[in-house]
Amino acid sequence: MATTTLTENSPRKNPLAPDMEEWDEFLKGRYQEGKSEEEFRQYDKEANPDVAEFYRLNHGNQCLDYVLSKEKTYFGLDKGDKSLWEAAEFLNTLVDDSDPDTDLSQMEHLLQTSEAIRADGHPRWFVLTGFVHDLGKVLCLYGEPQWGVVGDTFPVGCAFSEHIVFPEYFAKNPDLHHPVYSTEYGIYEPHCGLDKVHMSFGHDGYIYEVMKNYLPIEALYMLRYHSFYPAHKHGAYQHLMNEEDVDMFRWVNEFNKYDLYSKGHAKPKLAELKPYYDDLFAEFFPAKIAW
Ligand SMILES: [Fe+2]
Ligand SMILES: [Fe+2]
Repeated sequence: MATTTLTENSPRKNPLAPDMEEWDEFLKGRYQEGKSEEEFRQYDKEANPDVAEFYRLNHGNQCLDYVLSKEKTYFGLDKGDKSLWEAAEFLNTLVDDSDPDTDLSQMEHLLQTSEAIRADGHPRWFVLTGFVHDLGKVLCLYGEPQWGVVGDTFPVGCAFSEHIVFPEYFAKNPDLHHPVYSTEYGIYEPHCGLDKVHMSFGHDGYIYEVMKNYLPIEALYMLRYHSFYPAHKHGAYQHLMNEEDVDMFRWVNEFNKYDLYSKGHAKPKLAELKPYYDDLFAEFFPAKIAW
């Protein structure tokens, strides 16, 4: 990742790579089986300077005003109609060919995730969720900077949890000392439910908006919260959750293991898999949907 300043907003020429992969690897390292909460917190800035810089930008810029303006730009879904294959092929234009260790395309990550879910005998909507879960990364192609597309997500408009990775980088966030946004509940009511909460902006929230009229609620939870590691790995933000959230987070956790650990299995063969996915898409979606 190139060294950038806190205010830099411009996308890089090839904004997904190799940094997107680097972030994925960092996540896997953080949540290796058996790693304690304490080890997680000490996750090393010196050993991961690019990732640390990524989080410095993310935590410094993701404030309530920023999130509201991005929601306004993207949640109206006026960026054109596309089929799922078209969206996946569009995302694939960001394949990194400069990094010899990561020869998996974005499409292959989606298919590996969905195929791992399918191999475990899960329902068709769950397989489909695996395929679509990262399609929101097309935000990079709309010109959003990486720190505004990937990375852990967290609520804005209330206090930042200490369970968010590199919490010290919130020092530059304009909401940190806001009289309301810095309080435990901020602009929210106790146990108001996460659907009332504005999450930091990224590919999760965007794909949730694109998919919300088509997929079951369990799938929508997986999509909207799949990078909400402070909650699903560390139990943070229970004070904003309602009973449905608590119940549904079982599904978020179930999904997460496929997202983190399905990489590295055999490369999926698109030509062989295509008929299955054509049927699957047709079962849940019209030919094209709004993005
Ligand atoms: Fe993701
Ligand atoms: Fe993913």
